[in-house]
Amino acid sequence: MYKKEMEISSSTAFPTIGIVLLGGISDQNRRIPMHDSAGIAYSDEKQSVRTVTSLYISDIREGYFNGNKITPNNSYRSPFRIIEKYESQIFEKLGIVQKNRFICFRSENHGILSGSSDSGAAALGKCIHSILGNDLNLEDFENDLRSVSESVGRSFYGGLTVTETDRKMAVTRTVADWNIFKDFTILGCPFPEPRKPSDTIHENIVKSNLYEERVKTAKDRVRKLESLIKDGKLDEIFEIAQEDTEDYHRMIESVGVKIINRDMRNFIEDIKASQKEFWSSYIVTGGTNVFVVCHNRNLEKVMDIAVGNAMKPLKLKISPGAKSMDNP
Ligand code: MEV
Repeated sequence: MYKKEMEISSSTAFPTIGIVLLGGISDQNRRIPMHDSAGIAYSDEKQSVRTVTSLYISDIREGYFNGNKITPNNSYRSPFRIIEKYESQIFEKLGIVQKNRFICFRSENHGILSGSSDSGAAALGKCIHSILGNDLNLEDFENDLRSVSESVGRSFYGGLTVTETDRKMAVTRTVADWNIFKDFTILGCPFPEPRKPSDTIHENIVKSNLYEERVKTAKDRVRKLESLIKDGKLDEIFEIAQEDTEDYHRMIESVGVKIINRDMRNFIEDIKASQKEFWSSYIVTGGTNVFVVCHNRNLEKVMDIAVGNAMKPLKLKISPGAKSMDNP
């Protein structure tokens, strides 16, 4: 039975933070990473920081982002391109006649600091995956979703993931489940300045003379993460992340892309000073946020530093992959 507007699937996915940061993609269209990288999915304790997406059938093609109507166009990163690719397969699977009917989407972000394009792409992907199941080749599917967001795999799979690439295709896998990180909290500290598009980073970082060296370092760090997990050395994962943040921002600044502003730098210096007293690590990705990873027992101390810098921080946890709300 088909009603005028019928919901066919609904999913949740969590935003992401890079651990070995990604800089450089093959092209605007397919967005294949030029080097290996790693990342985590995050949310708050109740997993309310998230993207919620549903697909429905309508007699016009439409989509909504945070309540705003999106008209289909051929722009890069458009969810319509993914939907159109899988549309007839979905109708067939659902046993609904396609004629004059379209699959449409509604997507809402809740409380996300940065990494929302990953969760948006992953939630859309999960909606399609929950219908097509084993009919999908997940590696190919991830690479289709990548045209919406280059690091979608982090959110689709969740926990700590690594994404390996041969520059033709990239594949993500979870290397540590989200719930092994329960003893850690990430304090997400947003700064008021608007973020630059990630593409500004991707287009410029490759101009650095040291870029090919960066490709090697990233690969080595990704390998190292896997051995640290085997040895249960979780703190060291985040120490690598801080080292990587420092190298990455030094490199993008050298090609004219500055993300870390004066206020962020002052806060980072306070965090680094406190590292002489207790363990923590900090990460800055492409957005104007500083993420401070600490042990739960030291959260209040980090919180005091953040509040002392006039921040309104958010307590975050590493979270699982995208979930279907139809067949959880
Ligand atoms: C990469 O998709 C987005 C950046 O924020 C870097 C990262 O998180 O790895 C620019």
